[in-house]
Amino acid sequence: MGLRRVTAVRYAAALREGGSLPGLMEGDDLGTWVVKFRGAGQGQGALVAEVVVGELARALGLPVPEIVVVDVDPRLGRTEPDQEVQDLLRASAGANLGLDYLPGSITYDPLAFTVAPELAARVLWLDALTLNVDRSWRNPNLLVWGGGLWLIDHGAALYPHHDWASADGSVARTLPGVADHVLLPAAARPDAFARADAELAGQVEAALLTAVLDRVPADWLAVPPERYVRWLLARVEARAAWRDAVITALGSADEVRQTGQAGQAGQAWRAGRAGRPEWLRAGDWLRTGGTRPRRRADA
Ligand SMILES: Nc1ncnc2c1ncn2[C@@H]1O[C@H](COP(=O)(O)OP(=O)(O)OP(=O)(O)O)[C@@H](O)[C@H]1O
Ligand SMILES: [Mg+2]
Repeated sequence: MGLRRVTAVRYAAALREGGSLPGLMEGDDLGTWVVKFRGAGQGQGALVAEVVVGELARALGLPVPEIVVVDVDPRLGRTEPDQEVQDLLRASAGANLGLDYLPGSITYDPLAFTVAPELAARVLWLDALTLNVDRSWRNPNLLVWGGGLWLIDHGAALYPHHDWASADGSVARTLPGVADHVLLPAAARPDAFARADAELAGQVEAALLTAVLDRVPADWLAVPPERYVRWLLARVEARAAWRDAVITALGSADEVRQTGQAGQAGQAWRAGRAGRPEWLRAGDWLRTGGTRPRRRADA
């Protein structure tokens, strides 16, 4: 089943801290959507990764804001003073990706918010499976909203899909930068990751992956959807290789937790915290008088 389709009725603001210049847009459904544009430098592949990994996460019970296709008329950018935004909208006429905007959400801060080891381990497993390199200390791509953790920004995952000719060489690859994964300390409890692995690996089967790929607009795909299904199944099959690297990284994070010593992971943690920019607080934007809050069934 395809994604729900929404028509954008207003370009409200640019989310400038996002590398791909996502925009906040109002939809004809009265929703507010974080729109990732097809014409952005990251290309259409990033949108495919957003849908595949976001919907896979959802199918595995992880919290992801609703994903829709947002139909954009570039004329909505006419009153936007920024030439870059106008160009982006012009290059993105038609179908783009929308993520339900979580008003008042804040970027996950490991010092301020506790994540259950089971949840942390499941997110870590998903990222390791899909080679999502974008969940680091500096750029967690996790939001806290409504008292819970939400996963966003999966555009950098599945990066071997940018070169299918060499993708078979990546089926056993370890998640690059796993030691910097922002949920590593939270997941570092005995057996949490092994349990997540045992539970989730059994669910990532051909039927589920086919249903996930079905959600991607067909004309965004550069290869038949089966190619993604095959690659992901091969990663599940070969998971002993990448799982062990995660378990090793978890071992050092757990040591830091137990001894209270700022080892390598602890230092990275502090450096990440010190270097973090002042993230845009969605609430600040709301106070400037933007949108009406949406009622969410799952709030
Ligand atoms: N659904 C959402 N609700 C509220 N805020 C959001 C949502 N999605 C994204 N944001 C905010 O916008 C920022 C940019 O979004 P996102 O990370 O998806 O874009 P990006 O261009 O891929 O960014 P980058 O490459 O810099 O990580 C997020 O860090 C977050 O602060
Ligand atoms: Mg991001």
